[in-house]
Amino acid sequence: MNRKPVVRVCVSPALYELYKQAEGITVVVDILRASSAICTALEHGISEIIPVASIHEAKTFMGEDETIIAAERGGEVVDGFKYGNSPLSYINNKEVKGKTLVLTTTNGTQAIDAAKNDGDLVIGAFSNLNVLAEWLVKENQDVMILCAGWKNRLNLEDALFAGALVNELLAAGFSYDIDSDAAIMSQVLYNEAKPNMIKFLENSSHRNRLKNLHLEEDVEYCLQLNTCKVVPKLVGSVLKNVAKVTAH
Ligand code: MLT
Repeated sequence: MNRKPVVRVCVSPALYELYKQAEGITVVVDILRASSAICTALEHGISEIIPVASIHEAKTFMGEDETIIAAERGGEVVDGFKYGNSPLSYINNKEVKGKTLVLTTTNGTQAIDAAKNDGDLVIGAFSNLNVLAEWLVKENQDVMILCAGWKNRLNLEDALFAGALVNELLAAGFSYDIDSDAAIMSQVLYNEAKPNMIKFLENSSHRNRLKNLHLEEDVEYCLQLNTCKVVPKLVGSVLKNVAKVTAH
């Protein structure tokens, strides 16, 4: 491209129509916890992930060989499923090695579903921040960060991740979207939160929802930077790791 690539931030799927791009790369983020779980599962041995929007669709994979099916709604594992959306459940777990993961979640897989037909789609989380930023810089295309939020409401943790990724891309020569201040807003938030993100999120909506479900450990894990070396990219309807270097 002859001009500098642009980085945009869409803070809610409800605004997606305003930001969607026919070309370029969409980064779907749902820090608590879908995008963190996707990166972690691929890092720790799941071979590929099929994100699906509905529980009904997830159920159609039941009985398939070498497949794990995971379903989360409202932060909890859906009745009848063994796995939900906890990234920790995919770490040091022999049962998941080499398997295909079919995943449906409250917001994250809905955001993937909304953007899946518009240009390339990859998954971002604090866990793959650096490797993703390096990959995006090499691709040299416009980037739109789509925050999954909570039921179309903005949430802080996705905006913080957007700010962290905007920092990285601007440092590498990307420019702001001249039509929106969402990228600048995300940066301001992240730079303020960076010294202690867990404290910054003390009163935040989904952190407290997960706290009430005794999932504080998940929250702490999801806020750690660069624990994974994967770039999950949607190829057809399947998320595959396209990062050259992996931990395996
Ligand atoms: C979602 O997709 O809404 C989330 O990842 C919910 C969660 O896992 O807590």
